[in-house]
Amino acid sequence: MCGIFAYTGKKNSTSILLDGLTSLEYRGYDSAGIFIPGSGSIKSVGAVNNLKKKITKTIQGTSGIAHLRWATHGEPTEINAHPHHDCTENIWLVHNGIIENYKELKEKLSALGHTFKSSTDTEVLAHLIEHHLHKTKDFEKAVIATLNEVTGTYGIAVAHNTDPDKIIAARNGAPVVIGIGNNENFVASDPTPILRHTKNVIYLHDGEVAVITPESHHIYNLNSILIERQKETIDWDVEQVKKDGYEHFMLKEIMQGPEVIENTIRGRLIIEEGTAKLGGLEMVTDKLRSIKRIVIVGCGTAYYAGLVGEYMLEEYAGIPVEVEVGSEFRYRKPIMDEHTALLAISQSGETADTLEAIREAKRKGALTLGIVNTVGSTIARETDAGIYNHAGPEIGVASTKAFISQLTALSLFTLFLGRQRTMSQSTGKQIAEEIKLLPEKIKSILAQKETIRKIAEKYSNSRDFLFIGRKYNYPIAFEGALKLKEVSYIHAEGYGAGEMKHGPLAMIDENFPTLAIAPLDSVYEKMISNIQEIKARKGKIVVITTEKNTQIKDMAEDIIYIPETLEVLSPLLTIVPLQLFAYYFARKKGLDVDRPRNLAKSVTVE
Ligand code: G6P
Repeated sequence: MCGIFAYTGKKNSTSILLDGLTSLEYRGYDSAGIFIPGSGSIKSVGAVNNLKKKITKTIQGTSGIAHLRWATHGEPTEINAHPHHDCTENIWLVHNGIIENYKELKEKLSALGHTFKSSTDTEVLAHLIEHHLHKTKDFEKAVIATLNEVTGTYGIAVAHNTDPDKIIAARNGAPVVIGIGNNENFVASDPTPILRHTKNVIYLHDGEVAVITPESHHIYNLNSILIERQKETIDWDVEQVKKDGYEHFMLKEIMQGPEVIENTIRGRLIIEEGTAKLGGLEMVTDKLRSIKRIVIVGCGTAYYAGLVGEYMLEEYAGIPVEVEVGSEFRYRKPIMDEHTALLAISQSGETADTLEAIREAKRKGALTLGIVNTVGSTIARETDAGIYNHAGPEIGVASTKAFISQLTALSLFTLFLGRQRTMSQSTGKQIAEEIKLLPEKIKSILAQKETIRKIAEKYSNSRDFLFIGRKYNYPIAFEGALKLKEVSYIHAEGYGAGEMKHGPLAMIDENFPTLAIAPLDSVYEKMISNIQEIKARKGKIVVITTEKNTQIKDMAEDIIYIPETLEVLSPLLTIVPLQLFAYYFARKKGLDVDRPRNLAKSVTVE
């Protein structure tokens, strides 16, 4: 979703604001803009580079607010670009979220004589602050009075021309992080743009307002009561948010697969006992013994990781599992009770639909757990217990390394829960030993990236692509197809291979290729039957299979080999060539893989 960034300090703020926006760019690229108190504002349609071209020396100061837009209300035009201002052009603000009662507020303010320039919901906030400032003569009080009148979600940063050192930020349902530096302070939608300046941060909670100057930071609630909050230290490194010589973050992040697994399992695998030590679950260990059912919730890639988790947990922990997308769970009437655990999976820890599913489950008395990558994020804070991924920041909009880490965390959770229940030590040990070997096995797949590139390029003129798999690789067919659609904008469909005869087979001809995920496992023979059916209809087939499989040669147009592993862990290997395939396919088409059109990394609105 949109990204906000703000600075107040002693340095020239223009370059700090632009750098902040550049490192937040995965949050939106419909338009960008900055405002520097006492100096002015510049906005542009499109990505930050367009804004950079418009910057002149006349715009300068030592503070400011900045925004990247992912359009919800109003077209992505310059008029609708943030920052927005009031009638006096003294109050300027940037906003991530949706003001639900903006129409009523706009009517009320228009009747009072306010004139609006844009068609955004955000602009009403600036005018409402103006309205209250007129009455209270106090900037902070005016912002708080405004927030008490709005319904909806917001992460905002507000600045005033006559009080240039002060930035007021607030949060309700959209993430806001305050960076605490030395004679300088920051506001951002997530820690990424702050990292290069300071590792000390405060995460605002819903209904909180932060008032920052270069030397001070104070946090209030919406009743203007001062709140004490300790700062936290982020363990991410600034180096992690650079491309490291790769052309795109997506490729860098795919190539990080092996180290991501190492980081997710570090200190957690207890091979001798065939289990995992998960510190974040310690306080609910006993509660987990009495859980009779798990509901996994996630969106996008995280949802597909959940589908793999379902198969893992049912087979090895013997517990019934259901998986649902957050946007469905929150609006129906799910049956939850104190014997159910809701497991939310989220890279960002901020996805609105997943978060609301957690809140719904909590209301119904369920235990809530999280598999979350972003430390301190809302989902991490609101769940009762959880497992951090430790995958490091993921910048590419299409999730790759987070998926690998989510599958790894799910396999650790399976060991943990399985060993509490039915799993024998020897089975646990066998799985744990195999998890340890995965990084090396992924390295051997990554070493074939040139072969995969050539295959992807060969098919890059296709307008459709089918992905099929069975059992543990059934969700991988969905995730493989999702990767391709996200970055290459072609029609890609994931299907259970057993369902081909019930519809998709009708689409197959020489122009409709299929990617079949067919490692040598318990459903291999069934996959071969499905592959034959496609071949008989002249469909071209790319197969992903296990290294020692020599039988498949005459059935497939192209073959990608992966090392042998346990069936339950095979998705951790089969997904790697699919990620590379999507990357090279889109790159051949000349598309911006890190910033696919219409998509944003963190979806903080429903
Ligand atoms: C967006 C991203 C996806 C991601 C999904 C869920 O759609 O583009 O890559 O899988 O949100 O995000 P989360 O942060 O909850 O894992």
